[in-house]
Amino acid sequence: FLHYGDLTDTGNIEKLINPIKPDEIYHLGAQSHVRVSFDMPEYTANVDALGTLRILEAIKDSGLPIKFYNAASSEMFGSSAPPQNEKTLFHPRSPYAVSKIISYYTTQNYREAYDIFACSGILFNHEGPRRGESFVTRKITLGISRIKAGLDQKLYLGNLEAKRDWGFAPEYVEAMWLMLQQPSPDDLVIATGETHSVKDFLGESFNYAGLGDWQKYVEIDPRYYRPAEVEVLVGDSSKAKEKLGWEAKTKFNDLVKIMVDADLKQHNPKV
Ligand code: GDD
Repeated sequence: FLHYGDLTDTGNIEKLINPIKPDEIYHLGAQSHVRVSFDMPEYTANVDALGTLRILEAIKDSGLPIKFYNAASSEMFGSSAPPQNEKTLFHPRSPYAVSKIISYYTTQNYREAYDIFACSGILFNHEGPRRGESFVTRKITLGISRIKAGLDQKLYLGNLEAKRDWGFAPEYVEAMWLMLQQPSPDDLVIATGETHSVKDFLGESFNYAGLGDWQKYVEIDPRYYRPAEVEVLVGDSSKAKEKLGWEAKTKFNDLVKIMVDADLKQHNPKV
């Protein structure tokens, strides 16, 4: 059942939790765009940092044995050297990352102070056909489908040198669920352990779509640069493997194919 709610509205969250009496809460709500967080830092902190606090406070006050999953983020590692794991120091590079660090420590604090089954998943980038259209992987695969359909001639992007550990979202959701099925709560890194640049993604996807050299289609628009950038993320999820038996199955090349195929179907129904 879809209930309306808002992470900035404390009373509303309390009014939802008490009658629903959920067994588990997967808290994925956020202003989740890193670039946008530089334009709307206060809003981002209100939703991403205080939003988490509001839910945890409502869980505490309800007295119900609710298990809580908090979506933390690999962005929290920022400029810390890779590979990044649960012991890596945070060095945030955006208002989004700072807000997620607050949500991470708030979750830890409610676990320790009130014995709430509360965990943070430190998920590295997870992608797929349902990825929002303004995130770089989906922007590229959607751009390819629009170029192939004759709707666009160019794709405008920002920093192509950034490297990310990109995995397949459905597998990451399984990891979230597994975290709440464990005997005790813990914080875990979820990642593939591989890293690729935005350029690599362009090369692989344009080639797979049969468009050839991506440089013929891609232009740089400095509007997409960030005031501070996260250069390279590579996750070490060995703790998740040990505790959950979880491991990423879909790697970079297959992920690119899944996303290109899905977007080509959208604009080229015959493909
Ligand atoms: N969005 C976007 N648009 N990013 C671009 C573009 C562009 O046109 N051109 C280059 N990039 C670069 C960004 O500068 C960044 O280094 C990289 O591509 C990835 O950007 P996003 O896809 O926007 O993802 P993100 O890594 O900033 O954040 C995502 O992953 C986090 C997990 O690490 C988001 O989903 C976050 O909510 C999530 O926490």
